[in-house]
Amino acid sequence: MSAPDRHIDPITGQPAAIRYVDVRKSFKDNHVLRGVNLMVPQGRVTFIIGRSGTGKSVTLKHIMGLLRPDAGKIFLGDTDLDTLNPREMRALRVRFGMVFQHAALFDSMNVFDNVAFPLREHTRKSHAEVEQRVMELLAQVGLSDARDRLPSDLSGGMTKRVGLARALVREPEFLLYDEPTSGLDPVLAAAMDQLILDTQRANPQLTSLIISHDMSAVFRIADKVAFLADGVVLHEGTADYFRTVADPLVRQFVTGSLDGPMVV
Ligand SMILES: Nc1ncnc2c1ncn2[C@@H]1O[C@H](COP(=O)(O)OP(=O)(O)O)[C@@H](O)[C@H]1O
Ligand SMILES: [Mg+2]
Repeated sequence: MSAPDRHIDPITGQPAAIRYVDVRKSFKDNHVLRGVNLMVPQGRVTFIIGRSGTGKSVTLKHIMGLLRPDAGKIFLGDTDLDTLNPREMRALRVRFGMVFQHAALFDSMNVFDNVAFPLREHTRKSHAEVEQRVMELLAQVGLSDARDRLPSDLSGGMTKRVGLARALVREPEFLLYDEPTSGLDPVLAAAMDQLILDTQRANPQLTSLIISHDMSAVFRIADKVAFLADGVVLHEGTADYFRTVADPLVRQFVTGSLDGPMVV
């Protein structure tokens, strides 16, 4: 038997933790993904950037099986997602943490219980183990003192931190973020970026995939960046590559300028 293919991401030199191969997805006449090819390197921070409505969230949802491609394949390591039955798919989702744009906390639960929820629901950890793990994470996101507060009593930045703690509580291999800093002021956004970076450093095996149109975050923390436009990954590279790439479409996006080829 031959050794499994090793797919090495050329941008980072890391093995591909997630791989999109010519993924296509349409909603009726709306051809959103038109052949996405992308490697997400293991143990690194990858950004997918692009304008609103270009299919960034759709791309992300395919990884967890929340959407299925019309054509093409998605691999997690060597596993073709298409070959998994529903039970295997559920088991696979445990390996993911997800940080949504809106943290979607349970309004009636305090911070501690929100973070503890996935542990209580899906594991048989003892009361003491849950307590220890949740407090460890609240400390990591700077919310040790907020354990008894209700979501209605939290600022936007704190809410996102609770969402991050909850996503991490079951020690995922993959952390997926959909616009983690949207709605935050620039200072809070920078704090969130730092927290994402600290989280990555504290968990070197973690593979982080972040959807964003916040270029300052990209330049601060991205190991790899993929620019999605017209349903394909039009450019990929390091953050430095995006500082200098000449394509006027990318330049306009990076600088947020009204002048350029993009239709506003
Ligand atoms: N479940 C769905 N059903 C129909 N259309 C959808 C669905 N999800 C996304 N779309 C459409 O796909 C396109 C890309 O959406 P999305 O991935 O959310 O964009 P963004 O890059 O802003 O995250 C949009 O035109 C959106 O309306
Ligand atoms: Mg989106």
